[in-house]
Amino acid sequence: MSTDRDTVQSYDAAAAEYAAEAAAMPEWVASEIEAFVAGLGGAGRVLEIGSGGGRDALDFEARGISVRRTDVSRGFVSLLHAQGFEADLLDPLTDDLADPQRPGVPYDGVWACACLIHAARADFGTVLGRLAGATRPGGRLHVSVRDGDGEDVSVRGSGAVSRRYSETYWREPALRAALTEAGWAVEEVRRCMGRPDDWWLSVRARRA
Ligand SMILES: C[S@@+](CC[C@H](N)C(=O)[O-])C[C@H]1O[C@@H](n2cnc3c(N)ncnc32)[C@H](O)[C@@H]1O
Repeated sequence: MSTDRDTVQSYDAAAAEYAAEAAAMPEWVASEIEAFVAGLGGAGRVLEIGSGGGRDALDFEARGISVRRTDVSRGFVSLLHAQGFEADLLDPLTDDLADPQRPGVPYDGVWACACLIHAARADFGTVLGRLAGATRPGGRLHVSVRDGDGEDVSVRGSGAVSRRYSETYWREPALRAALTEAGWAVEEVRRCMGRPDDWWLSVRARRA
């Protein structure tokens, strides 16, 4: 059980650059936010895993949803602090997920967009189970992972400034099984295209 440190350090080193690249809201993410907010009835407190540059949290807040921004990368947390937002350094695999703003009260939902691609396959169920444990029954989950087989390490840059990102790909049947086993009732898994030929499996689920 471990979080890939190369991946986290790569995000640390490139947080501002990544945030700028990801600032524009992809169409498929906008649709997921719409459905997520509707599923919450337009109100609630959400734990965001992998906030990154903070694009999605802003959109949620504009719709009246309260968001706890978190990231496993100190680079993103610092970036969010510098912009005046509260954000917590948090690894969903190992850290306490309880809400410091509402001790003893579970979240109404968890938003984990394009971040659990970096969780190892062997740890994915553990993370999903921990997220379920922090969410009220009936609470919402969005998680999106890359559609495909196996694992991959993508390298960006070169030499001393090269960055390495580990990614785990999922197919829908295994993804559904992992979610169900972890305590989530899957409502829908949508296949969405990011960039051309960049396919995501986007999950709409609720806490069973
Ligand atoms: C592709 S970015 C997505 C950021 C943001 N959610 C977005 O959609 O723009 C991946 C995010 O996952 C975080 N991350 C890296 N390793 C992780 C892990 N093992 N578990 C959870 N999040 C991780 C990164 O720090 C980064 O914020």
